[in-house]
Amino acid sequence: MIKINKFEIENVKRVKAVKVEPTANGLTLLGGKNGQGKTSVLDSIAWVLGGNKYKPSQATREGSVVPPALKVTMSNGLVVERKGKNSDLKVTDPNGQKAGQQLLNSFVEELAIDLPKFMNSTSREKANTLLQIIGVGEQLHKLEAEEQDLYNQRRSIGQIASQKKKFAEEQTYYPDAPKEPISASDLIQQQQEILARNGENQRKRQQLDQIKQAHASKGQEIERIKQQLQEAEAVYEDLGRDLEIAQKDALDLIDESTEQLEANIQQIDEINRKVRANLDKDKAEEDANHYRRQYDELSKNIENVRQQKSDLLGNANLPLSGLSVEDGDLIYEGQKWDNMSGADQLKVSAAIVRKLKPNCGFILMDKLEQMDLDTLNEFSDWLEREQLQAIATRVSTGEECSIIIEDGYIAGQQIIEEKKNQQQKQWKAGEF
Ligand SMILES: Nc1ncnc2c1ncn2[C@@H]1O[C@H](COP(=O)(O)OP(=O)(O)O)[C@@H](O)[C@H]1O
Ligand SMILES: [Mg+2]
Repeated sequence: MIKINKFEIENVKRVKAVKVEPTANGLTLLGGKNGQGKTSVLDSIAWVLGGNKYKPSQATREGSVVPPALKVTMSNGLVVERKGKNSDLKVTDPNGQKAGQQLLNSFVEELAIDLPKFMNSTSREKANTLLQIIGVGEQLHKLEAEEQDLYNQRRSIGQIASQKKKFAEEQTYYPDAPKEPISASDLIQQQQEILARNGENQRKRQQLDQIKQAHASKGQEIERIKQQLQEAEAVYEDLGRDLEIAQKDALDLIDESTEQLEANIQQIDEINRKVRANLDKDKAEEDANHYRRQYDELSKNIENVRQQKSDLLGNANLPLSGLSVEDGDLIYEGQKWDNMSGADQLKVSAAIVRKLKPNCGFILMDKLEQMDLDTLNEFSDWLEREQLQAIATRVSTGEECSIIIEDGYIAGQQIIEEKKNQQQKQWKAGEF
């Protein structure tokens, strides 16, 4: 991994002269009050390593009579310089051979010298950067599309299911109605059969009357025709027997009632209306259940896809524990980017950018005052464990700072005196 061994900057933006040998693993913290040149130092390093697209709009320090001079010595021996009137780039490799921006680009990660570019990218872009690093972007996008599709399906099915359920509930139900509609013709046929049987009974009753009359007339005949008595008695006897039988028959005769049937016939429409209503309700309930089951099935599928997604990320080699992607958003310890603390945002950015170009061993970070001292210590330990070199700034003059930048210089460095002397000399010589 390539690190920065030393940087020397003169007359860039607010910087007058700064020369630093940052620590190889961990945090080199440039402290100082506002407006003293801390960010100018980082801008200078970005310019010298990242190329002219990082050139500050007012690169030369106001009031400087000499052009900017920048020199960075890398751990692989490369010396990168910008100097002279046009601030031309000069890259010298250890063997003394010259090389250019292309060589620098091969190991300088753009986001490592321009972390705000990462921090200001959209949540989706950040998540994609992370997915790109861990190599599961394509699979995850596929699963996400699948999940979205299932989710949409389930939502429409869910709407139908609840409509159907409501509809089924609104239907009236008659617990006393028969299961199937009644047939009018059946009832009429039953009625006709009963009427036929009753008719037969009537016929038998009439027969009884006839026999009674005949018996009576024969009696009279017996009276009238005594001479025909023998004959008449025989007939009379016969008739007496018939009479006996007919009387016995008549005793057993019972008429069936058609009352219930008549009532049913009268109520047939009402009953059938209830039967149809019950059948409709059954159908509606079955319909509602069908959609309910479909909804549940889709829920299971969604759960399954979500599981696959979380497995995919769970098995991936994430640059920071607690980091994840959910629905295309970067998540750290359960929080989306805009809900993360400034400290967490810096930490997450560093962790992700760290993995983009594996041989880029350094990162520039501005505004570490967002971290309290505990967080700063923890971050510094993490950098050391990751063997990552961070050159960072912080509005502070506290002991946590490796170096204090003051008025474009490193506070307490000999150089201040030298420069003052130089300025005084120039002043005396009337150069200002
Ligand atoms: N070319 C320049 N020459 C002199 N001063 C500059 C130049 N460019 C910017 N500045 C001044 O530098 C100050 C900011 O410097 P900066 O490095 O951002 O400080 P810090 O990060 O320590 O707060 C501002 O006051 C700005 O006006
Ligand atoms: Mg600053």
